Amino acid sequence: MKIAILPGDGIGPEVTREALKVLDALALPQLTLFEGDVGGIAYKRQGHPLPAETLEMARAADAVLFGAVGDPECDTLPREHRPEQAILGLRSELGLFANLRPAAGFPGLEDLSPLKPELARGIDLLVVRELNGDVYFGDKGERDSAGGREGWDDMSYNEAEVRRIAHSAFRAAQKRRKKLTSVDKANVLETSRIWRETVIELAGEYPDVELDHMYVDNAAMQLVRSPGQFDVIVTGNLFGDILSDQASACVGSIGLLASASLGERTTEFGTFGLYEPIHGSAPDIAGQGKANPVASILSLAMLLRHSLGRDADANRIERAVAASLSSEVRGADLGGNAGTQEIGDAIVRQLQAIA
Ligand code: IPM
Ligand code: MG
Repeated sequence: MKIAILPGDGIGPEVTREALKVLDALALPQLTLFEGDVGGIAYKRQGHPLPAETLEMARAADAVLFGAVGDPECDTLPREHRPEQAILGLRSELGLFANLRPAAGFPGLEDLSPLKPELARGIDLLVVRELNGDVYFGDKGERDSAGGREGWDDMSYNEAEVRRIAHSAFRAAQKRRKKLTSVDKANVLETSRIWRETVIELAGEYPDVELDHMYVDNAAMQLVRSPGQFDVIVTGNLFGDILSDQASACVGSIGLLASASLGERTTEFGTFGLYEPIHGSAPDIAGQGKANPVASILSLAMLLRHSLGRDADANRIERAVAASLSSEVRGADLGGNAGTQEIGDAIVRQLQAIA
């Protein structure tokens, strides 16, 4: 089993280190780790945010554990050299089109949610975000116009792209509460009209899943008004980017939530994928040992489940995290004072107790 470790920028390395501590505690047989540069640090060391060597390392692995990218010192670079291009490049080069972003309340942490506790308690949803298309990857540019310089970005989805993400979402719903909400803007966008028609065509193959449709503006409102109504949400790249941040904020801390990005390639152990916290590089707290490593540790659990076929280990990690959170070893983001390493150590101790 080969895992490529790409810690990246800001708090990425600190939180990834704690996830590796947890991985180490599992003492898995025949595991090889490779580490590569990605993001702003890669640009500074190698002149490119996604060096060819890093991409090859990711391709050759069974899974990728990713930290975060983003560095204020790189903010003025031309777009192709910005750290964010590294994650976008990995997603497209590796064909990782299905982004799974679970958001569920942690028992005892309802008070952290900006929502009323009774609403926060009911959150248990999964955003399935399309990751290889939409306005993110369309042609884009700048041109002159009567109103001065004009920026433009092409938004599109074809049926094949919608079908493959819809299949992932229907299958995810079958394993959960069997309810799927497709989010679009079909009252305005042609992209969304094709999206919606294609999702409806597939629904016949999943008679056990209840499908409904929501415009994105309404979905944003419903997420704060009654988030408990959602099971699986499937949506495009841009709407998914926005709604998944919103869903994670409803839970409380963005420092708790993990994500998986999966494609079609399978290995002898599972589905090849890239796993990363939902949070970013948080440069304001980088290097201070304050970051919450829970999202990275839960990303590792998703990696073990989806890419390495190690469900039991994934469950063990998730139980250890829950136990550690309820024993009140909590970081500053959760109103506590535990540091990054302290939280990692507490989770390892819980893990050993569960073994
Ligand atoms: C995310 C991030 C990225 C995105 C950025 C860093 C390019 O916001 O993973 O949600 O927009 O997809
Ligand atoms: Mg985002």
